[in-house]
Amino acid sequence: MFGETGEPAEDKPATATEPIRAEDIHISYGGVTAAEGVDLHVEPGEFVSLLGPSGSGKTSMLRAIAGFVKPDRGRVLIGGRDITRLAPRFRNFGMVFQRYALFPNMTVRDNVAFGLRARSVGHNEIRAHVDAALDVVGLEDLGRRYPAQLSGGQQQRVALARAIVIRPTLLLMDEPLGALDLRLRQQLQVEIRRLQRELAISTIYVTHDQEEAFSMSDRVVVMSRARVSAAGSPDDLIYRPSSRFAATFVGNNTLLDVRQTTGNGVVQMDRLPGQSRPFRLSGPPHESTRTLLVVLRPDQIHCDRRSRPGAVAGHVVERRFTGLEHLVTIRTADRVMSTLDRGLGLRVGDEVFLTWDPAGVHVIEEDADGNVVGAPGGQRAQSVDQEPTGSTVPGLPGERR
Ligand SMILES: Nc1ncnc2c1ncn2[C@@H]1O[C@H](COP(=O)(O)OP(=O)(O)O)[C@@H](O)[C@H]1O
Ligand SMILES: [Mg+2]
Repeated sequence: MFGETGEPAEDKPATATEPIRAEDIHISYGGVTAAEGVDLHVEPGEFVSLLGPSGSGKTSMLRAIAGFVKPDRGRVLIGGRDITRLAPRFRNFGMVFQRYALFPNMTVRDNVAFGLRARSVGHNEIRAHVDAALDVVGLEDLGRRYPAQLSGGQQQRVALARAIVIRPTLLLMDEPLGALDLRLRQQLQVEIRRLQRELAISTIYVTHDQEEAFSMSDRVVVMSRARVSAAGSPDDLIYRPSSRFAATFVGNNTLLDVRQTTGNGVVQMDRLPGQSRPFRLSGPPHESTRTLLVVLRPDQIHCDRRSRPGAVAGHVVERRFTGLEHLVTIRTADRVMSTLDRGLGLRVGDEVFLTWDPAGVHVIEEDADGNVVGAPGGQRAQSVDQEPTGSTVPGLPGERR
């Protein structure tokens, strides 16, 4: 592949205006599989998190994209250019790891300048770029110090400055805040995101921390056991999970399995505990029997100390402060449901009654094997305020009683 000048395009730094794709990546170490057909893409300027438990293959994917691991199968592309076999030093990617990996015998300035020197950039230019990078991370006064004279948070700022000073095509970060305490972590989350936006650097950010991924990212790619198990914007994953896994993984959803038997999009209501009204689904009517998964977020389940018609009784088994709200776990006769304590002052053992309004509730349609079918991202429930009559709805078993 050749550029406009006839030179091999690989010699030129890629511009940050090109999307980056990893396609069908397979990685194994001896008998251990770390990636099994993983697809990942980053649009120009996008912040994508790779979220998953330890051992799910996040670091391996990052290393494959950086060029430190050669995938058994699959390709890495910048724009349309295949870089799968391009050496890491020609990729112009910036990297930040959990362990700061600074050179202990070099000052902060020299650490930051390192990548530029390796690229034989001129002396004055290096000075200007290093000044700018230190300024961006708020370390303009500490350039003469050595890493040992810095706190963990400051060292990680140096690592960040070192990664961005080369104006990377892609910024790769592997649990960069994992070694810092909570307050500092939250502060740096905000700073990294601000800086990433300002510089419009395409970024892949590896973390096992759900809150971190959701608060920072344009898009979250969830990995489990060497595969991508869910992906989407934080809003999509929270409000419109596309699979049973995604609905279980994110938030504290209560999942209700239901067989739709009445046709015309109206779900037989006596299968759903606590449901206050019948509902139909958006989208075309559906006559045959099918399996649906109703996803209830904690804020969609109403909790009361007094019983109401149709409410399910249960007992509080756990109450936990999440930093914003009190999340309560309720055990009913046949399941566990999660809701919020909105000023009830609940305690473990208290009896409560749960109801939910089907309006706007998210519904996923699955086939008999549990695979998602129907519209990607699922459907919305619409409550039926009046009892439907006539030929449009041939019977609502729950309402006949
Ligand atoms: N260099 C290696 N040699 C052998 N196995 C490895 C190596 N690196 C990672 N693994 C294994 O590959 C799997 C994925 O690891 P990794 O990509 O580090 O996951 P994560 O970053 O999500 O914790 C794990 O089972 C891990 O033990
Ligand atoms: Mg890792």
